[in-house]
Amino acid sequence: MALGSEGRDGFTTRFGIVCAAAGSAIGLGNIWRFPYVVGESGGGAFLLIYLAFVLMLGIPVMLSEFVIGRSAKRNAFGAFKKIAPATWWPLVGVIGIVAAFVILAFYSTIAGWTLHYVYLSVINGFKGASALDVTRIFESFQTSGAMPLFWQMIFIMLTAVIILSGVRKGIEKYSKVLMPFLVLLLIALSIRAVTLPGSVAGLHFLFNPDFSKITAPVILGALGQAFFSLSIGMGALITYASYFPDKTNLSSTSFQVSIADVLIAILAGVAIFPAMFALGMQPEEGGPGLIFMVLPNVFQHMPGGYIVSVAFFVLLAIAALTSSISIMEVVVAFLSEELKIARKSATLITVIAAAFVGMFSTLSWSTFKGTGIGDYNIFDLLDFTASNVLLPLGGLLIVIFVGWYMKQQTVKDELTNMGLLRMVVFMIGWYTKDDRTEEDRAKFTALRIRVYSVFMFIVRFIAPIAIAIIFLNAIGLIRI
Ligand code: PHE
Repeated sequence: MALGSEGRDGFTTRFGIVCAAAGSAIGLGNIWRFPYVVGESGGGAFLLIYLAFVLMLGIPVMLSEFVIGRSAKRNAFGAFKKIAPATWWPLVGVIGIVAAFVILAFYSTIAGWTLHYVYLSVINGFKGASALDVTRIFESFQTSGAMPLFWQMIFIMLTAVIILSGVRKGIEKYSKVLMPFLVLLLIALSIRAVTLPGSVAGLHFLFNPDFSKITAPVILGALGQAFFSLSIGMGALITYASYFPDKTNLSSTSFQVSIADVLIAILAGVAIFPAMFALGMQPEEGGPGLIFMVLPNVFQHMPGGYIVSVAFFVLLAIAALTSSISIMEVVVAFLSEELKIARKSATLITVIAAAFVGMFSTLSWSTFKGTGIGDYNIFDLLDFTASNVLLPLGGLLIVIFVGWYMKQQTVKDELTNMGLLRMVVFMIGWYTKDDRTEEDRAKFTALRIRVYSVFMFIVRFIAPIAIAIIFLNAIGLIRI
């Protein structure tokens, strides 16, 4: 394991870095949340706005987190404290830690459902079930208190075990090999879904924008989905970037991760909507249970459905794990680095707290049925607070920090890897009496300097203004 200059764990291989960041981004957000939010928000038009947000806001926020994390080499709270001592900026880290708890709470509910579906797949629990039966199986599970709670606790414990096995060994190893398989399965599922009779309407729903469906809350929802799915706005990627080596190309990593994330979400959409229309379901009907009510039907109508079903839910659970470890790591890194609590105890504290809050989320459809605000139960409120409030707020503060507070030379050094390379060039020059041409030297410093001005313009002006407008518009303070 590579130890950084300050004795912290680090990622070792380039592939490992991209995979770990992608492992954080790719998870239930793409495969579970994306389809049901698209369904509730009217389809194609939402998809377009979401894509625009990923490109214009998501990638710059992700890159900002990378810059903060790698330059400070600290957890999300400590990074702000180190770069901006004696200011209020570390509060952004606090928002991130709160967001991490809220997300862990409801994320582990859905991940628990996924584990139960692994079990149901293994025992062939959907054999011969009609579409109506599949829905009933889901609803009776969702509304039974104990089972979902049991699986949720298993999932939280699994996350803790991986966290405790260390940064590189834990994260790198698990994310590397398995995700390509999930993508292959999604492709197979998509092919089956689009060849079901009556499926064309699903593709139409997903890809034909109907802008009459767009309202201010839908726009905020697209922003929330973009941020949630990219794992940005709460410091998960600040924490991960703090383990990146100096030679990692931050901008290309942010592009690669974001593009993979979007493609997998769209692939999930292509697997779900055609199947849903073929089954005669309405897109806004599904709610958080959407994939659990649709996919078992698709599995039944494909060759090798049993094995595909088992593999799919296992891989989905692993995708959820590689995301939840990045969420839990935000809290554990904070507790261990800032409050000097041993990693083991820090993990234990986090697990207990997350399990406690998570319980309320999982019991939203049973014990706490009817508790909530308006149409929103506890689960919905947790999800809304994290995705549509805390993450955009965190993202807003993160871009303002990088755009207006940080030393521009530091930002530039991080984006061009000059900090390290300048030293290397200097050292080589020293020993070789510097007989290289200007051109040779330029090669060392040319890393992605082109994106700098575009990036700066977005993080200074476009992103803060856009996020603020989307927010104020959704809560009705301004009307555009
Ligand atoms: N992006 C993850 C997913 O799509 C969830 C996540 C959100 C992870 C925020 C970290 C931080 O499943």
